[in-house]
Amino acid sequence: MLRFLRNRHFLINMVIKLITKIHPVISDNIAKINFLKDSFFLLNLEQVEGDYIEFGVFDGTSLIAAYESNKTSSKKNGLTMNYDGPKRKFFGFDSFEEGFKIFDKSDAHPSWVEGNLSSSYEKTKKRISKYLKDDEFKLVKGFVENTCKNIEPSKYGINKISLALFDMDLGTPTLIGLEFIKNSLVEGSIITFNTYYAYKGSEKKGEFYAFKQFREINKHLIFREYRFWGAGSLSFILIEIKK
Ligand SMILES: C[S@@+](CC[C@H](N)C(=O)[O-])C[C@H]1O[C@@H](n2cnc3c(N)ncnc32)[C@H](O)[C@@H]1O
Repeated sequence: MLRFLRNRHFLINMVIKLITKIHPVISDNIAKINFLKDSFFLLNLEQVEGDYIEFGVFDGTSLIAAYESNKTSSKKNGLTMNYDGPKRKFFGFDSFEEGFKIFDKSDAHPSWVEGNLSSSYEKTKKRISKYLKDDEFKLVKGFVENTCKNIEPSKYGINKISLALFDMDLGTPTLIGLEFIKNSLVEGSIITFNTYYAYKGSEKKGEFYAFKQFREINKHLIFREYRFWGAGSLSFILIEIKK
């Protein structure tokens, strides 16, 4: 019995070592990939039409994961899917070389400082091109304050949106992104926020506050909470567009 207990501790100690050695950034990315996979499964099953849009692309990991996820669940299989899923394009918005910029001091955060998380537009495009054909994706370079504010999505060839990933962390650009996509959302669209509980869980800052403001401005859009994922990410389904 004593030997069993000793062995049991040996095993659980190994599990503790293994699990805690995986950096949370990796676990969070895995959670994001799983979330994208489940979301596209749902969207394809429900035949929700529309493109994928990502705000905050960095070096392209989640955009590629979104594409691969959709590919896996969009084929007719005679079991869960009696039809092919809707055709989708993949759009990504990011400042790339410039990284973060604080346009509004309410967004100030110890980690998300100006110039942080900059990436190369050319390298990211090249990386994505290894998975997606040229006519399957579009990257829009620039701060959303310049590329999306008071601009219609049709300017970039966006009509309907089935899944939107908000991954810019800051509140001000998130609200701009939400306003940009609002007329492209359809019933069944999923929107998700990567750092919904940031700013020490504040209800006056970040993505939480942006979405709160957005819902106050757009009371005709009715959302239902869908899924918590990763370290502090939350998603919603647009269940009704009131006339
Ligand atoms: C956490 S990273 C995105 C991670 C990415 N989705 C991935 O798969 O790894 C945040 C990104 O948001 C971008 N960003 C932050 N503020 C922005 C703004 N106002 N306009 C455009 N991009 C912005 C940064 O340049 C950075 O690449």
